[in-house]
Amino acid sequence: MRALVINGPNLNMLGIREPGIYGTESYETLVRICQDAGRALGFSKVEVFQSNHEGAIIDKIQDAYGTVDGIVINPAAYTHTSIGILDALKAVAIPAVEVHISDVDAREEFRQVSYAGMACFARVTGEGLLGYRHALELLRDRLQD
Ligand code: DQA
Repeated sequence: MRALVINGPNLNMLGIREPGIYGTESYETLVRICQDAGRALGFSKVEVFQSNHEGAIIDKIQDAYGTVDGIVINPAAYTHTSIGILDALKAVAIPAVEVHISDVDAREEFRQVSYAGMACFARVTGEGLLGYRHALELLRDRLQD
């Protein structure tokens, strides 16, 4: 079981950006949470990727075809705008879980649409960085079905 965790724009600024919303932990801490959780859940590999560029995220999803069994994705701001990321997830058809650190449903109107989420079988929101662990757990359960 190989997992790929994808993080979109500005998530590299965790700990600095809007700590009241996203917390004070750094991106490095998030990477460690994913790798520790992945190991504990029985994944043989968990790669954690971040990019501020939509095309780089699409390239990464395409590269996952045939090499990755499951995806956890927080497309960040691209959640609400990117049909390209949605189409890439649909193209590779790899089981995917959408994750958001904040409770997007309780935030601004423009955050209420999720394109990427339309290609995901589950969604985790508002659980902070530990939401990634929850997302990996849902992915493991799906892959072991
Ligand atoms: C986010 C929520 C998005 O609306 C926002 O643009 C982000 C982070 C989250 O993890 O809560 O950058 O995806």
